[in-house]
Amino acid sequence: MSERVVMAPPLYMVQKREIIDRFIDEYIPPSDQYPQALHEAIRYSINAGGKRLRPILALAAYEACGGNNEIIYPAAVAVELIHTYSLIHDDLPCMDDDDLRRGQPTLHKKFNEAVALLAGDALHDLAFELMARTGNPDAIRELAEAIGTGGMLAGQMADMEAEGRNLTLEEITFIHTRKTGKLIRGTVRIGGLLAGASTDYIRAITGYGEKIGLAFQIIDDILDIEGDPEMLGKPVGSDSKNLKATFPGVVGLEQSRQSAGKLIDEAIEIVTGVVSQPDNFVQIARFIGGRQN
Ligand code: IPE
Ligand code: IPE
Ligand code: MG
Ligand code: MG
Ligand code: MG
Repeated sequence: MSERVVMAPPLYMVQKREIIDRFIDEYIPPSDQYPQALHEAIRYSINAGGKRLRPILALAAYEACGGNNEIIYPAAVAVELIHTYSLIHDDLPCMDDDDLRRGQPTLHKKFNEAVALLAGDALHDLAFELMARTGNPDAIRELAEAIGTGGMLAGQMADMEAEGRNLTLEEITFIHTRKTGKLIRGTVRIGGLLAGASTDYIRAITGYGEKIGLAFQIIDDILDIEGDPEMLGKPVGSDSKNLKATFPGVVGLEQSRQSAGKLIDEAIEIVTGVVSQPDNFVQIARFIGGRQN
């Protein structure tokens, strides 16, 4: 096996991750709250690990747009709760039927399907309760639209319907920009909206979010083929098992690598031209481009 060069997350990500984990712990209900199974399940999934990429991006966007208030934390945690809910439901037998997530048994394996369904719902609800704390209707709407039937859910539905089919580049791009891209795009926009960013800044970070969001899912597909399950914390080969439509399936592995790399470069270029302090954005984009987990 070829040697893997693992890129350590930039210091910014390491530092922000720690802060975010503290807020997550503060915002989610204690596991001894009745009914305990539900609250234990929520904590099991959220504390299983994960890169916390989305909340870190929310903070990076907020700070890059001049925000300097604690109001970003409930919003940053909200996007991570939504992401975790989406993973719990994505792993269910009726969807991707996966047994491992974030290095541990998936929630329906550890508990049962009803608990997994309800814990996912609970994370979704809690996310919107947290968003309400921002007092910013535009930010709340942004999240709802990112994950709704024109966003993540559209992508997840199209992903299920595409199983076993040959897709065009346009069709697979539709799926990836929605099932994964829209939440990432929405996340950076929420950071910008809460910071009261100018139209120019919002446009730039939206473009950045769209590019890294699509790149993120292309790389996810690549890692499902050639990743290391130990490092990924989830199985490889899940896509081929489910006859999923993937980027490498449509354009091949090499073209997928090139497309992801190009999207990362473009994302960096977009923010570098506009945002006055783009360093964290640049580092996060490079991290996504080189990620092995
Ligand atoms: C996995 O997302 C699901 C996709 C959208 C491709 P991440 O790779 O960000 O998962 P965690 O949060 O680090 O576990
Ligand atoms: C997941 O895509 C996208 C969402 C959960 C919305 P995948 O099904 O490819 O994600 P993994 O590979 O299971 O993490
Ligand atoms: Mg899936
Ligand atoms: Mg999946
Ligand atoms: Mg995948």
